[in-house]
Amino acid sequence: MKINPKKKFIGSLSQKDLLRLYSKHVSGPKTRFFKSLGWGVIPGERDGIKFKSLEGLKPGEPPIELFDCRSAGGVFNLGRRNPRIVQLLKDALDGGLDLGDHQLLSEQRALLGKKIADLMPGDISKTTYGVGGGEAIDTAIKFSRVYTKRKGCISAIGGYHGHTGFALLTGDPSFKDPFLWNFPEFRQVPFGNIDAIRKAITEDVACVVLETIPATGGVLIAPEGYFPEVREICDDKGVMMINDEIQSGLGRTGHFWAIYGGIYPNEKVIPDFIVCGKGMTAGIYPLSTCSYKPFIERAVFGKDPYIHVSTTGGSDLACAVALEMLEIQSDPIFLNHVTEMGKLFGKELNEIVEEHSDIIKEARGRGLMWGLEFYNEEDSLLSMFSIIKEGVMLNYCGNKKDTLIIMPPLIVKKEEIEEIILRIQQGISNLKKIKKG
Ligand SMILES: Cc1ncc(COP(=O)(O)O)c(C=O)c1O
Repeated sequence: MKINPKKKFIGSLSQKDLLRLYSKHVSGPKTRFFKSLGWGVIPGERDGIKFKSLEGLKPGEPPIELFDCRSAGGVFNLGRRNPRIVQLLKDALDGGLDLGDHQLLSEQRALLGKKIADLMPGDISKTTYGVGGGEAIDTAIKFSRVYTKRKGCISAIGGYHGHTGFALLTGDPSFKDPFLWNFPEFRQVPFGNIDAIRKAITEDVACVVLETIPATGGVLIAPEGYFPEVREICDDKGVMMINDEIQSGLGRTGHFWAIYGGIYPNEKVIPDFIVCGKGMTAGIYPLSTCSYKPFIERAVFGKDPYIHVSTTGGSDLACAVALEMLEIQSDPIFLNHVTEMGKLFGKELNEIVEEHSDIIKEARGRGLMWGLEFYNEEDSLLSMFSIIKEGVMLNYCGNKKDTLIIMPPLIVKKEEIEEIILRIQQGISNLKKIKKG
């Protein structure tokens, strides 16, 4: 193994050595999976809405440049290494910040808490910090159980809320059964079916947890009236409503929160909890947030303020970075840009569907969060590879593989959308030519 002394961070290892080390010390199965696909897109240099692979699609070939239409599920809403965010982190380090002490109070946590409260709908005004999205979902479920003194939780089939304790319990059996982690009070229902929710809410249910736009489940758009009815049922039965906005929030739909106008502009639903992660710090420093109404705080922390703690959740550095991200992404001009780009992207994707209606069923989405559903999984997966070869990084929905999820960074410009669409178009046409033989 050779380490390039001139390149400390990117390009220090050849792709071959990297794969060998990865297989030996990080994950053999993951390395084999990527090798079996015949390519290893390992991110190298990254900047704005693009990144370069470390080497080519085959060993020894030069790096390829890809438009990042994955955005790591909304981590890179502001593109890679957004200059304002990078500068803020440097300034925060130079200005004296570190992680901070989680047992003590913190200026940065207080400032970010206020900013989040200002952006939240209704009286959601308290925030408990974490590091990852799963941790923040765990927090919301924990707090719901304390408040309601019930154990049950209803979630959507195909939904995804993380791989930690309670979050894992809300997910599909394939992820939790191998770990012998299953409790009958955690139940799943089809997304978008209000009767199923109504039936599932029995006396033992503490909370309903739903992604506002299920991403892993296929970029599903709930029928009009679904979320307002979920709200009504929860109110009626004393059940907490938790919205996971980890992918759909922070302006992704052109509205700051998908649940508050982002699905249907006239539907402004106020849940009891809004959970955020991924893009909270624009991909520079980990942070997740679980925000909720004041009555929940009294029930959880009333007797013991240290009943729930996280050493690295809500670090001073992360909070400072998140404040800068919120400043940028909550600006009405920024949100208007997302709305306009979303309209263009949706229109162009629908044209692709029309042209390839023999293999693509529909395009659905809001703002800059789109799913392209194929009639079968094979065409979806082969199209994905073909589109990646054309220089657009995207992926299939983990729990609905006939659908590709497309989430460009929110800073994408009109000319870039046009270029991305051309490449998607080309990728699908290439696949069809190969299939025809
Ligand atoms: C909607 C949603 N919720 C929760 C999570 C879990 O977040 P994390 O991986 O940071 O724990 C994810 C991760 O992909 C997600 O997409």
